[in-house]
Amino acid sequence: MKKIVVIPGDGIGKEVVPATLKILQSFDLPFEYVYAEAGDECLERYGTPLPEETLELCKESSAILFGAVGETAADVIVRLRQELDLFANVRPAKSIKGVKCLYDNVDLIVVRENTECLYKGYEFEVGEDAIAIRVITRRGCERIVRFAFELAKRENRKRVTALHKANVLKKTCGLFKKVFYEMAKGYDLEVNDYYIDAGCLYLVTKPWIFDVIVTTNLFGDIVSDLTAGLVGGLGLAPSANIGERYALFEPVHGSAPDIAGKGIANPTATILSACMMLKHLGYGDLAEKIEKAVEKVISEGKTTPDLGGNLKTMEFAEEVLKACDP
Ligand code: NAI
Ligand code: MG
Repeated sequence: MKKIVVIPGDGIGKEVVPATLKILQSFDLPFEYVYAEAGDECLERYGTPLPEETLELCKESSAILFGAVGETAADVIVRLRQELDLFANVRPAKSIKGVKCLYDNVDLIVVRENTECLYKGYEFEVGEDAIAIRVITRRGCERIVRFAFELAKRENRKRVTALHKANVLKKTCGLFKKVFYEMAKGYDLEVNDYYIDAGCLYLVTKPWIFDVIVTTNLFGDIVSDLTAGLVGGLGLAPSANIGERYALFEPVHGSAPDIAGKGIANPTATILSACMMLKHLGYGDLAEKIEKAVEKVISEGKTTPDLGGNLKTMEFAEEVLKACDP
C-alpha cells in the first residue's frame, strides 16, 4: 500500500480535491488516502497553518496531493517545499483542443527552482525601509539544471531554455547561467537562454520556440502563471513538486475566494496534477488514460464556467470518469 497524504486546504481546494479523488478512487489502486489539514481555516482552528502532525504525515508519504490554501500560502506550501526539500517545481503548459486562447500549439514545461531565490524569506525592516536577500547556491543551480536536462531527455524534448536576468543580477543570475552552460556540455540537447523580460515577450508572441524552460524561483512562479494563461488559465495548470525523497502534486492556482463555495471551480488542474502523481508512482498508463479523457471531455465543450461551459466541479469529474471507460 502506498500512503497518499491528501491536503485539500482552503476555498476551492476543498472542491477540486474531492472531485479528483472521485476519479482516483474509482480505479483499483493500492493507495491508502490519509487526510491532513493545513491553511487559513486550520490556522483559525488550531492556531497554526501547518500543524506538526501534517508535516509528520507528509514525511511518511509516498506522495502528497495538495489542493490550495489562502493567505497562509507562504507558511504552508512554501514551507512544505522547504521542509521536504522539494527543489524542482514542474509546470507543464499544453494546448487543449476546444479551449479558446491565443495559440493552439503550445507544449512546454516550466522547471522552476523551488527552494531558493527571494522565496527563502530573508526579509528585514531597516528603519522605514525593507530589504530582501536573494539566495542562489551552486548546489541549487546544479540540481535544478540537472533535473531539467534529465526531464528533457526522458520526455524526448529537444531544447532547454534558461530564463534569467544575468545582465543586471550579475552574481546570482550570473551563477545560474554559468552552471546552466557548464552542465549542458554533458547532454545532447539544444540549449539557449533569454533574459527573463525578453523571454516573457517571446512566450506571448511565439511560444512554439520553447520546449523545456528552466529558471529560478521567483521568475518561475511568475512565468508559470503566464504559461498557464497561454493555454487557457489557472483552472488547467497542474504541477509537481519533486525532491530526492518526497513529492507533492498540486494545481498552480490558489484558493480562489472569488468563486469558492459555489461548486464551479475547474478541477482539471488538480486532476492533471494527480496524473503527474500517478506517473511518478509508476502508473503511467492510467495517467494517460485519464489525461485523454480530460482532453476529450473539454474538446466536446463539456466544461466549467471558466472555460465557457456550465458544468459544476463534480459534474465535470463525472464526465471524465465516463470518458475513461467508453
Ligand atoms: P488564485 O489562483 O486563487 O485565483 C486567480 C484567479 O483565477 C481567480 O479569478 C480565480 O477565480 C481563478 N481560478 C483559479 N483557479 C481556478 C479554477 N480551478 N477554476 C476556475 N477559476 C480559477 O490566485 P489569487 O486570487 O491571487 O489568490 C487567492 C488566494 O490563494 C490568496 O490567498 C493566495 O495567497 C492563495 N494562493 C495559494 C496558492 C497555493 O496554495 N499554492 C497559490 C496561489 C495563491
Ligand atoms: Mg504562483
